[in-house]
Formats: sequence, C-alpha cells, structure tokens
Amino acid sequence: MSADHSQSSATRAAARVAFVTCGELPDLDPDDQPLIPALAARGVTAEPVAWDADADWSAYGLAVVRSTWDYAKRRDEFVAWATSVPRLANPGGVIAWNTDKRYLRELAGKGVPIVPTTWVEPGDEWQPAAGGEIVVKPAVSAGSVDTGRYDLATQAGLAEAHVARLQRAGRTVMIQPYLAAVDTAGETALLYVDGRYSHAIRKGALLTGPDTGVEGLYVEEDITPRTPSADELALGERVLAALPVPAGDLLYIRVDLLPAADGPVVIEVELTEPSLFLGTADGAHDRLADAIVRRLP
Ligand SMILES: Nc1ncnc2c1ncn2[C@@H]1O[C@H](COP(=O)(O)OP(=O)(O)O)[C@@H](O)[C@H]1O
Ligand SMILES: [Mg+2]
Repeated sequence: MSADHSQSSATRAAARVAFVTCGELPDLDPDDQPLIPALAARGVTAEPVAWDADADWSAYGLAVVRSTWDYAKRRDEFVAWATSVPRLANPGGVIAWNTDKRYLRELAGKGVPIVPTTWVEPGDEWQPAAGGEIVVKPAVSAGSVDTGRYDLATQAGLAEAHVARLQRAGRTVMIQPYLAAVDTAGETALLYVDGRYSHAIRKGALLTGPDTGVEGLYVEEDITPRTPSADELALGERVLAALPVPAGDLLYIRVDLLPAADGPVVIEVELTEPSLFLGTADGAHDRLADAIVRRLP
C-alpha cells in the first residue's frame, strides 16, 4: 500500500460520523434522519450505529449520541461504553454526570431554581406528607418511563407502592409537587448548539395519573415550536454557566423548564440523548451538521 493511499483512507475514516442509537431504532429517530443527507452535502459520510453494537468506534471521526433511549435500565454499561469511545459528543464524562438527575442538586447548590425535589435513596423511609398532587420518578430515567402522578387525597397508597417498587430495584427516587401550570402553559425546552441558542419548543403535559408502565421507549409527546420568554432564556443562560464544563464544548444542550409560581424552574438538563426537535426550526439541521463538521479531526 502506498503512503498516499493509506493517507486517503485515514482521511475518509476521519470524515465518517456515527449517529448513535439503540437496537429498537436502527434507522434513527425520524427527526435526526435529515442529518445524514445534511452531512453528505458537506462531504461527510454518516451512519446509524447502536451503542451496544460490536462496532469499531475508533473508525469514526465523531460519534454523536442520539436515540440511545434504552440506557436507563443499563446505565452503568452505558456510561462505561460512553467513557470508552475516543471521540464522542457529548463526551463520556459529561454523560456520566448527566444520566443521574442528582446533578439537579448540584445546580440548585449553585443557585439555579429547580423543581422542588425530595430525594429518597433505596434505604430511606418515605411517607406521603400533606395533600396535593405529587410526581414520583427515578433519578435515572428517560422518556417518562417509571414516572407517575398521584393525588395524595385518594392515591397515597399507590404513591407509596411506586416509591417502594423503585427502592426495591435499588433506584434513587425523586418526589416533586405536580406543577399544574404545565397543564396549560406546557413545558419549555431550550435547544443550544455549541453553547449558542438555536430554538425552543413547547411540550404538552405528559402525566395523567399513576405509573401503569409504558409500552416502548418513551411516552408520545405533543411538540410545537415556541418563542421562549425573556425569563426562560435568562434561566437557560444561568444553567449553561453552572454546567461542569464550558457550554461551548458541548455539541448540544437541552434545558427543560416548567412554569412555577415565581417563574420558570429547571425540570432537567439533557446533555445525553435529548430529542432536539430539529424539524421544528428553520436551519436547525444545518446548524447541527455544521457543528459536527467543525468537530471532525
Ligand atoms: N414535577 C412535575 N410537575 C409536572 N409535570 C411533571 C413533573 N415532573 C415530571 N413531569 C412530567 O413528566 C414528564 C417526564 O418527566 P421528566 O422529569 O422530564 O423525566 P424524563 O427524563 O423521563 O423526561 C415531563 O415532561 C412532564 O410532563
Ligand atoms: Mg423530560
């Protein structure tokens, strides 16, 4: 093999991108699929690869985590995989931090308003306090799986059973007030590419009652474009500033906000495998494709 030839195959390898998905979505989420022709137009070959496939990750100039929505039950395996991939967006260390929502405590410690949360560890005693509606969910979760809403006036026993079930599975449990303004105002997701604001969406309320199990990877969502308020954008910037790495180092960031009495609060920060809702905003696929190309070696 001539030196020239090996160099050109190295260049081709560097220009290949893996979009990382799960076995149940071998062709990616439809919202991500246009990224492949967008990269092709930029001279870059991209293909879907499942995170738990027997793949040679060093063959890619960049692996971009997308629809790995089956990781919640295998988080340790997923984090071990993420930290082993040489060029991953977002990086493995960030994924280790972001796949357990106890990161919300850290953000709260830095003054970021979050949904008020009681943290219940597997060995802790927990009993419902006053009335009202609460949400029970695991600290490691995605797609609203294992998440339930309970009216303590009539469903306290069901809430206790849900908490106990998660504890028995060794999971940290989050208990929150149900922020009912989501029923009318919805949830706001702010999307950033390379740390710069790109677009936003409104997500309709998702929880109707107790957790009865979800068929599949996620609960269906009602998504529409949204123009965020100045308060929401300002909170988004505070979240970015409180992250453990510079926001500009991250290919994508999604900050999810719920409306509360004194303004928006953070429900989660998605740095791992968020739906990016690229199809809801003009130019969003192109912005992400350009950011991917900038990261190639
Ligand atoms: N405290 C809450 N108040 C109102 N709705 C909530 C609350 N917590 C969760 N939800 C609803 O449940 C959905 C899933 O919860 P979330 O914390 O985003 O977990 P996941 O990581 O599964 O997306 C949210 O999009 C929202 O509709
Ligand atoms: Mg969510």
